[in-house]
Amino acid sequence: MAINGISIEAKSLTLMLALVTFMYLLSSPVEARDIIVGGDNMWTLNGFNYTTWVKGEKFAVGDNLVFKYNRTAHDVNMVSGIAFKNCSAENSLASFSTGNDIVPLNMTGNMWFLCSFGQHCSKGMKFKITVLAAETPIEPPTATAPTTGDAPSIASAASTFMVVIFAVLGIFLL
Ligand SMILES: *[C@@H]1O[C@H](CO)[C@@H](O)[C@H](O)[C@H]1NC(C)=O
Ligand SMILES: *[C@@H]1O[C@H](CO)[C@@H](O)[C@H](O)[C@H]1NC(C)=O
Ligand SMILES: *[C@@H]1O[C@H](CO)[C@@H](O)[C@H](O)[C@H]1NC(C)=O
Ligand SMILES: *[C@@H]1O[C@H](CO)[C@@H](O)[C@H](O)[C@H]1NC(C)=O
Repeated sequence: MAINGISIEAKSLTLMLALVTFMYLLSSPVEARDIIVGGDNMWTLNGFNYTTWVKGEKFAVGDNLVFKYNRTAHDVNMVSGIAFKNCSAENSLASFSTGNDIVPLNMTGNMWFLCSFGQHCSKGMKFKITVLAAETPIEPPTATAPTTGDAPSIASAASTFMVVIFAVLGIFLL
């Protein structure tokens, strides 16, 4: 009876651990995505509507915006909302000009981008995004930018650890 009791408890425990592990894996952070601005169109002036493009995308903390463009013809400026309305890059918050720029989305909220060449901005090379919190309970809800980059590796190490623990317990208990 006692042996059966222990055995049943052990099996319940194993099942519990399996569930916990499974739930944990489900809640693991999604991989940070590299979002190529404009998709196949990339970052250029050809009538492409970046505002429309933004509507079909989702932006979250941990993702990267990737600007790919001809650097002799375009650039990238991160500006304030007011400067954006005015297509002004004069007081840009950040400027990029390598032609292959990676902008980490490290905080929630709005971000505005434009090209400062000629009339490119007023002709459509501009867009606003709203960055949402990362889709995981592991990420803090507010923007604690410096730690977000480390979260996926810590979480995946923790997941691996949980799986190992579960496997070892499973061998002993079953
Ligand atoms: C890049 O832009 C410059 C200036 O408009 C143009 O002369 C050149 O051909 C472009 N290069 C490519 C690879 O499109
Ligand atoms: C808008 O941009 C123009 C040209 O860059 C500048 O002269 C003007 O001061 C700007 N206005 C505001 C409100 O930023
Ligand atoms: C892009 O499309 C939006 C509607 O999604 C429109 O309001 C805007 O004027 C368009 N921009 C350009 C440059 O055509
Ligand atoms: C967040 O990203 C911006 C560029 O998008 C960068 O200037 C800033 O240093 C970053 N902050 C941190 C804490 O990584």
